[in-house]
Amino acid sequence: MNLLLVASECVPLIKTGGLADVIGALPKALAPFGVHARILMPLYAAIRDAADGAECVLDLGAVHGGPARILATTYKGLDLLFLDAPHLFDRSGSIYLNEKGEDWPDNPIRFGALSLAGARVTTEGVAGWRPDVVHVHDWHAGLVPAYLRQAGDMTPCVMTIHNIAFQGLFEPEVCGPLGLSRDLFTPEGIEFYGRVSFLKAGITYSDKITTVSPTYARELMLPEFGVGLEGVLQSRKHDLLGILNGIDLDLWNPETDPHLVAPYSARSLKRKATNRTELEERFDLVANPDAPLFCVISRLTQQKGLDLLLDVLPLLVDRGARLAVLGNGEPGLEAAFRKAAIDYKGSVGVIIGYDEPRSHQMQAGADAILVPSRFEPCGLTQLYGLRYGTLPVVARTGGLADTVIDANEAALSAACATGVQFSPVTAAALGQAIDRTCDLFADKTLWQGMMRRAMRHPVGWDKSAKAYSRMFAGLPGIAETIGA
Ligand code: ADP
Ligand code: GLC
Repeated sequence: MNLLLVASECVPLIKTGGLADVIGALPKALAPFGVHARILMPLYAAIRDAADGAECVLDLGAVHGGPARILATTYKGLDLLFLDAPHLFDRSGSIYLNEKGEDWPDNPIRFGALSLAGARVTTEGVAGWRPDVVHVHDWHAGLVPAYLRQAGDMTPCVMTIHNIAFQGLFEPEVCGPLGLSRDLFTPEGIEFYGRVSFLKAGITYSDKITTVSPTYARELMLPEFGVGLEGVLQSRKHDLLGILNGIDLDLWNPETDPHLVAPYSARSLKRKATNRTELEERFDLVANPDAPLFCVISRLTQQKGLDLLLDVLPLLVDRGARLAVLGNGEPGLEAAFRKAAIDYKGSVGVIIGYDEPRSHQMQAGADAILVPSRFEPCGLTQLYGLRYGTLPVVARTGGLADTVIDANEAALSAACATGVQFSPVTAAALGQAIDRTCDLFADKTLWQGMMRRAMRHPVGWDKSAKAYSRMFAGLPGIAETIGA
């Protein structure tokens, strides 16, 4: 079965969050199930080198005021189709934001073009290749199903929601330039409170909708989490499916990770301590073998609940614990964490920025990873934490609830705990969770047992890739093309 994945980012090319990890890992995970996946993404300035030697497989002509074409290449095992449209993507700044940190004003056109390209690759084919299924990810690719249906193309579509907080909402005037028929601009179509919603378009015109954990799939149908789309999703309840993300077990393997000062396994946990010492030095933290070293690796945004962590720092420091933070995002949170590093010198260390190798070193060196998110569709850092024996301390929401087994009395008696969960997502509950983690850490035998168990917990793609392939097989006309 041929699958076209359409997305705005992909590891190892370009990444702002977990979406990129998932897009980069899915093709390899799906291949054993007879799915041949190609990724269509924009050719941003920062990744132009990856298109060296690429072949033009479809000339799209003029798209939104400039030439556009599809280039095909392979890169580190990925089969890629690039949308090459320099007037839209060949610019400095981040992929979504300009140098001032604001959304690029022409984002509806830029990602509308990505969606249009996805539809044209599907209907016209590229060098004799056509997808049997189109799998679109988040709002950036949300218009693909709308364009296809508008053109009368019924190729089955699946929309995956990685984060419903980002919907791609724009003024209705964009319909004209985007070539969207006004007939689609209805509450049953792409209209959302007077604006165009790219995400709603994807949901409405796809055959199936998935999200990245079973708990988030249920949460999405509630007003607290659905961000206004809960009704639309309730009406598609029978087509909505939660499939957990996995992680790339080759890229995230503590035994072979090239970024670590001392690679280790569940049988050589002593070596993890060497990584801890390196982390303490790098973050200017005092050593204390009697209390845990917590880490945070995160976008600094309201979603991630890290303002709550700032509130409970006195408690964490009082317990003799330490905290290493790597993150960037909202200027207010960046400043608050910078200040915390000064106020709690030796106990709190902060690096503001984005640093992939450092994120691996932190997963290896810390004892526990904090993820106090207000909502979390899946979350990947707690999965990396499990794999590295760095026990996750997480809010009981979305994918965090589905992947971490809380060390409550029942789980401790049954010897199945892998971390700590807390609820509600408040500073008080987070404080209690940190307290509880310090108590667990103090019992070395118990803690090491949890570490070993966490490292054995399945966090790869096997089960989820199977679930995706089964779902694809259930789409109209697909069963015969797939070995699910
Ligand atoms: P989200 O996609 O909502 O940001 P996820 O947990 O799904 O959350 O994915 C975040 C990804 O980005 C993980 O791979 C994490 O390691 C990485 N990451 C987040 N912040 C940083 C940072 N400052 N430096 C390096 N990697 C980061
Ligand atoms: C989004 C979510 C995160 C999820 C990631 C990959 O960025 O915020 O929870 O893990 O997508 O699906």
